[in-house]
Amino acid sequence: MEIRIFNNYEELSKCAANEIIKQVKTNPTSTIGFATGSSPIGLYKCLIKDHKENGTDYTEIRSFNLDEYYDIEKSNPQSYFNFMYENLFSHINIRNKNINIPSGHSKDMNEEVYKYNQLLKENSLDIQILGIGSNGHIGFNEPGTKHDQETHVIELDQQTREDNARFFNSIDEVPTHAITMGIKNILDTKKIILIATGKKKAEAIKGMVNGAITEDLPASALQNHDNVILFLDKEASRYL
Ligand code: GLP
Repeated sequence: MEIRIFNNYEELSKCAANEIIKQVKTNPTSTIGFATGSSPIGLYKCLIKDHKENGTDYTEIRSFNLDEYYDIEKSNPQSYFNFMYENLFSHINIRNKNINIPSGHSKDMNEEVYKYNQLLKENSLDIQILGIGSNGHIGFNEPGTKHDQETHVIELDQQTREDNARFFNSIDEVPTHAITMGIKNILDTKKIILIATGKKKAEAIKGMVNGAITEDLPASALQNHDNVILFLDKEASRYL
């Protein structure tokens, strides 16, 4: 893993965004995996700024998102669908037909899981953007998830629901389940960039970089990938 440590979030976001911009410019038909959460918001702001100022073109870019809450409708302000349009897709010229986000509100979730997984198999991802949960989850692959797991529906950890409660009126409103790409899908990506900031992430980062590869810490599976760049601030990297 390549580790890059930054003094501030703006600089970190700019450098992480440059990896995406470089990819889009080198191959305008790239397939990019996007993540939600607060960590990549700065990166998305940089992509929007660059698109407006330099005209970086996303018309032939295909996107796949990591995950979505179950059983939330797209129109719910807390859906990851809504997050992606609000924080990125509405502000760049990516085409709706090229955007793939798993649905957390399908009548038949087994079919949705199968369909999304098939799409991922048919489209190899050039870059996957990741955040990390304080419990070491990636996407919504919670501790205990097998590293060869593909797309699935998962019950969220209490820790994850508490961490994400800040976006809802109360913890009772935080969904109990989600649909997520599996760790295998993530490892199949050609390049991974992971963003983590703040001391709440420091333990998970330490385990991911220096600990054993274990199902107890899903992000430790990234040690088995040969093209991972970590974008960390001082606090998230304090135990390295
Ligand atoms: C959610 C998402 C993850 C994200 C994590 C961390 O659980 N499913 O993809 O990495 O939150 O979020 P944040 O960046 O807000 O700390």
